[in-house]
Amino acid sequence: MDGVLLAGGTGSRLRPLTASVCKQLLPVYDKPMVFYPLSLLMLAGVRRTLVITTPRDHQAFVDLLGDGSAWGTELAYAVQDRPAGIAQALTLAEGFLAGRASMLVLGDNLLYGEGLTAVLRRMAALERGAHVLGYPVADPTQYGVLAFEGERVVDLVEKPADPPSRFAVPGLYAYDGTAPARVASQAPSARGELEITDLNRSYLADGQLEVSCLGRGVAWLDMGTPASLHEAAGFVQTLQARQGYRVGCPEEVAWRQGWIDDEALLACAAGYRATEYGAYLERLVEEGA
Ligand code: G1P
Repeated sequence: MDGVLLAGGTGSRLRPLTASVCKQLLPVYDKPMVFYPLSLLMLAGVRRTLVITTPRDHQAFVDLLGDGSAWGTELAYAVQDRPAGIAQALTLAEGFLAGRASMLVLGDNLLYGEGLTAVLRRMAALERGAHVLGYPVADPTQYGVLAFEGERVVDLVEKPADPPSRFAVPGLYAYDGTAPARVASQAPSARGELEITDLNRSYLADGQLEVSCLGRGVAWLDMGTPASLHEAAGFVQTLQARQGYRVGCPEEVAWRQGWIDDEALLACAAGYRATEYGAYLERLVEEGA
């Protein structure tokens, strides 16, 4: 399965922070925001990813992430000229995917918790249909939301004023190779966007939507407003200071996946000389775990 990482958009809710820097490059404690969703794809086992950016920010992403080879991965880039909805990412990725299945992640989503990697791996093993997540939130009105009959998902609603449940759909989705064609036959919503919720509904209508609801032990944070950005940074700082493990560290994930060896991890560390981040990578090699 290939990855699609959507890092476009105007970041309008974060202005003036995003007046000259895009949202997904802003710091979330000790690393750029995009490291978190990219690490999720890597944890799922995805090694080949298309990063979609605005025309303005394309070069900054290339400067930050390069071609992915330092992490034993392959990164390619595409530009979204005008944001026209999340589902448009799959249209832009059509040539890159060439009929293969994809895992789409939004560049401002952070997921962390026990058992998450197993769920990600199951999503990445998808052969047919789509697989999305459900996660309970206090205020679902800002998200795509699941509607249930008993335990069965019967509908998905985008940003409902009157939510049918507290289960929002996080920005991490797995799709089979039919997704770009499905999006091509979609009409824009009332807000003028190709909605990811409409794509998910098309799979549901075909009886091909799998939903995994995450439990309370997993954290899902989005980072699209000043308050949520601040909360995410605090969350990362708290966990890292307490456990001594880093959250959303692509170099570490690559190393644990066996995609890079000790020497390559130390080369990454050398690029972060005199930082705690670099010392952390060196310590992984020293301790061997
Ligand atoms: C988007 C999707 C929504 C999903 C959310 C996750 O919302 O439209 O279905 O629940 O991402 O972050 P938006 O970023 O457009 O507010």
